[in-house]
Amino acid sequence: MFDFRALRVPIVQAPMAGGPSTPELAAAVSNAGALGFLAAGYRSADALDEQIHRTRLITGEAFGVNLFVPQPSVATAETLAAYAAELAPDAAGHSVETGVPHPDDDAWAEKLDVLLALRPAVASFTFGSPDAETIGRLGDAEVLVTVTVTSLAEAQIALSNGAPVLVLQGPLAGGHRGTFDPAADPPSDDLDTLFGSIHHYTDAPLVAAGGLTTPAAIAHVLARGAVAAQAGTAFLLAREAGTTAVQRAALVDEQFTDTAVTRAFSGRPARGLLNDFMRRHDPAAPLGYPEVNQLTMPLRAAATAAGDPHGTNVWAGADYRSIRSGSAAEIVRHLAKEIV
Ligand SMILES: Cc1cc2nc3c(=O)[nH]c(=O)nc-3n(C[C@H](O)[C@H](O)[C@H](O)COP(=O)(O)O)c2cc1C
Repeated sequence: MFDFRALRVPIVQAPMAGGPSTPELAAAVSNAGALGFLAAGYRSADALDEQIHRTRLITGEAFGVNLFVPQPSVATAETLAAYAAELAPDAAGHSVETGVPHPDDDAWAEKLDVLLALRPAVASFTFGSPDAETIGRLGDAEVLVTVTVTSLAEAQIALSNGAPVLVLQGPLAGGHRGTFDPAADPPSDDLDTLFGSIHHYTDAPLVAAGGLTTPAAIAHVLARGAVAAQAGTAFLLAREAGTTAVQRAALVDEQFTDTAVTRAFSGRPARGLLNDFMRRHDPAAPLGYPEVNQLTMPLRAAATAAGDPHGTNVWAGADYRSIRSGSAAEIVRHLAKEIV
């Protein structure tokens, strides 16, 4: 079974669904001595299967795979219809229509079967905790399970389900918050406070995440006792990442100065560069994942095709200004510089 303590470099490249995570990025990070991750979210089970095989062609090292835990949506037909009406002028501006909301569990059972068949070293989960049976089956298959938590209460649920390792995601993190309850506001405890309370509560190994974009920030969480530091935003400009040209340009564009947490794109709180879409639509945007994500999908695709960073999500953590471009190996070496 994989053990984080055996990593040559105690850094995890966060799974980043929607494009940035690629087999090339995961393999390059793992080849550099850290732990690379594939992101299974939004992909079919067949595509995940193919990605795991492709990653294994380019690295013999351990890597992880991340899944979204499905949960009942909190959307109602009325709120979705009202939001679709609000988005209609944007859609017309791009000559597209808003997407059609439909139930979608992100192929949960099929992807679990892929994990059980192909047995990546690590399986991480976000948006909830798998039940004890699922964690047990993965453990029996020698797949180490990690569960992302954003509060002590979530940590208690994951641990009681048998999660052997927790990933603590602080509020500065880029992308979606891993909050279990889709209707709750995500907790605002800073990463240090969250780490302190959970470290006090459990002996389970803890991976810290959220806003770790500098060597000093990485060294700090390791000094506090994290078994590894997980960084996502720091890898967005890696050569091997699948970050789109629009996102890459926006991340270094001086017109963007802040990030904010929004539900306007997906119906779930997520942090990204504060842009016009968020300013316009956040006040009316309902909670409701995955339906809101489905509604906005054609608009985001059209904005991306048109090179418009104000019409699509550019997920990024609050400390995105210190990220660098380069190869994934160079980024790992840079981030590890102050680890003692
Ligand atoms: C573009 C992007 C996509 C993300 N996608 C996922 C995902 O698919 N699964 C997941 O568990 N976390 C996802 N996250 C969150 C990361 O796992 C991690 O918590 C976050 O990147 C840490 O904060 P940082 O971005 O400041 O390093 C994503 C983050 C970003 C920036």
